[in-house]
Amino acid sequence: MAVTYTLIPLHLRQDFIPACIKVLKHEWPQCKAELLPRLENAKCTGLSCSLGLIEHRDHALPKDTVIGHVRFVPVTNRPKAVFIEGQCIDGAKRGRGLGKIIRDRTEEFLGKLGYHEVHLHTDASHKGFYLRQGYRVHKFLVHTGGANLLRTFGDVASWHGNTASRGWEEEYEGPIATEEEVTDGVLGFFFVKSLVEVSTQD
Ligand SMILES: CC(C)(COP(=O)(O)OP(=O)(O)OC[C@H]1O[C@@H](n2cnc3c(N)ncnc32)[C@H](O)[C@@H]1OP(=O)(O)O)[C@@H](O)C(=O)NCCC(=O)NCCS
Repeated sequence: MAVTYTLIPLHLRQDFIPACIKVLKHEWPQCKAELLPRLENAKCTGLSCSLGLIEHRDHALPKDTVIGHVRFVPVTNRPKAVFIEGQCIDGAKRGRGLGKIIRDRTEEFLGKLGYHEVHLHTDASHKGFYLRQGYRVHKFLVHTGGANLLRTFGDVASWHGNTASRGWEEEYEGPIATEEEVTDGVLGFFFVKSLVEVSTQD
C-alpha cells in the first residue's frame, strides 16, 4: 500500500485544523491551539503560517490523516531566517521515523520559499533529536514577528525583540524572558540549522 506524506498549509484545508489542535494540545496542554481557526482564516500569502503533516494512503479510509503540525513565523533580525514553532508528531505515532519526515518536509518547504536558516526552540528531552538532525544549539537571540503565538514554551510567551503581529498582542503575549534566561538554557534550547552549504555567522 502506497503511503506518502505532505505538508499542507491549513488555510487551504481548514478541515484539518481540529486534528492539528488535538495534536498540539496533547503535547502542550497550555498552548493556544484553539485559536488556529482564527489564525488560518485569512488567506495566507506568506508567514506566519501553520501546516499539517498529512499521511495519504491510496487504499484505505480515511485516505488523509493529520499526523503532525508545524508553524512558521518570520525572523526579523536575520536575513532569510525563519522560526519554527509547534513542530510536533502525534504522540501515538512517534518512534517510526515521522519526526525525520516532518523535519525533512519542513526544510524542503522553507528552502523552496527561499529561506536559508531555520530556528526553533525545544526542551531538554528533545535536544538529542535535533542534534541528530543537523541542528546546533545557539546562544544568540532571534527577533520574530510574533513567535510562539501558540505558547508552546509554557509560561514564557516572548522574549525581547519578539513582537506579536499587530492586533494579536493581548491574546498571545505573556511574560517576557530575560536575555539570560533565553541564552543559558533555563528555558530549554534554541537551535539553528543552515539550509544552504555556507555556514551561518553567530
Ligand atoms: C521530536 C519529535 C518530532 C520526534 O518525532 P519521532 O517521530 O519520535 O522521531 P523519529 O522516529 O523520526 O526519530 C528519528 C531519530 O531520532 C531519534 N529520536 C527521536 N526522539 C528523540 C529524542 N527525544 N532524543 C534523542 N533522539 C531521539 C530516534 O531514535 C531516531 O533515531 P535513528 O535515526 O537512529 O533511528 C517528537 O518527539 C515530537 O513531536 N516532540 C514534541 C514536539 C517538540 O518538542 N517540538 C520541538 C520543536 S517546536
